[in-house]
Amino acid sequence: MVQPLLIWYRQNARDLPWRTEITPYRVWISEIMLQQTRVEAVKPYFERFMREIPDVRALAEVPEQKLLKLWEGLGYYSRARNLQKAARQICAEYGGELPADAAELQKLCGIGAYTAGAISSIAFGRPAPAVDGNVMRVWARLRGCEQDILQPSVQRAAREDVAAMIPQESAGEFTQALIELGATVCVPAGEARCHACPLQAFCSAMAQNKTDLLPVRAKAKPRKQIPMTVLLLHDAERVVLHQREQSGLLAGMYEFYQIEGKMSCDEAVLHAKALGFEVLEAEEELFAKHIFTHLEWHMTGYALRVKDASVAKGNLCAATVQELGSKYPIPGAHRAFREWAENHL
Ligand code: ADE
Repeated sequence: MVQPLLIWYRQNARDLPWRTEITPYRVWISEIMLQQTRVEAVKPYFERFMREIPDVRALAEVPEQKLLKLWEGLGYYSRARNLQKAARQICAEYGGELPADAAELQKLCGIGAYTAGAISSIAFGRPAPAVDGNVMRVWARLRGCEQDILQPSVQRAAREDVAAMIPQESAGEFTQALIELGATVCVPAGEARCHACPLQAFCSAMAQNKTDLLPVRAKAKPRKQIPMTVLLLHDAERVVLHQREQSGLLAGMYEFYQIEGKMSCDEAVLHAKALGFEVLEAEEELFAKHIFTHLEWHMTGYALRVKDASVAKGNLCAATVQELGSKYPIPGAHRAFREWAENHL
């Protein structure tokens, strides 16, 4: 299996920024970005990140707000915060260089079995297995696995099986080849391009005509739906932002002021007054929805013109439109409100 796979990879690998120049730092950052985000979306973020934060020491020292701003729009912001924690660990415990060993890599914040295997094999040529969701799909089809691929025991079996296949001389290419196959050929149900697959002669799902039925994945629980009320407190130049707590969902990010629950416009005005704002006019009602992994925000927004937005205090601050773009990291969940502010201030 390995030779046809490597030959296929050498002929078909996409030209990606983290492949043309391979360093441990670049592999690490790219793998973290790629965990929940598509390749095409990651590319510009990766290039900009490398320009702004070129190495482990720079990452350890960058102000958190700048780091989150560079991550703005990628989502799953704890990935960025964990990167910085890991960079500090690398400086304190590994002399500023990423370790090569997968078990050592797994001691770093935000690095699990997959990422450790990817860095160890791609950046250091070590024979460590790297099995993410895409590779799991390839493996489940190849082996005809009908168990739930989210079960830890099935994932362990996949890692062991993949580990036993790794060629000593081409561990990095092998890892990337499996990832590439999962991304471009052995894609989810209905779209798989089996005719183009270098492993079709070895594939159990192909032999049994089960490609579209595999992998098997347990049904996720339905997401919790949370009504939210967003107050766009603004004067002619500034809009009020709230910095979220340093832990939990969207930790440390800035959002437009919001409260859980659905308020009427009158209730929103009273709430704004209780915060210390003098409300001159309630202008507009806006709706937006955002889907996170485990929950959804159903947001009702009220644009409230106030006498002076800069009376904001504590975790609140008043930002100009220019600062929304350059200074404060704002999650995609509030994009509609940000656009409102950009169009009305
Ligand atoms: N997805 C996860 N890791 C990847 C990589 N190194 N190249 C392309 N897609 C990926």
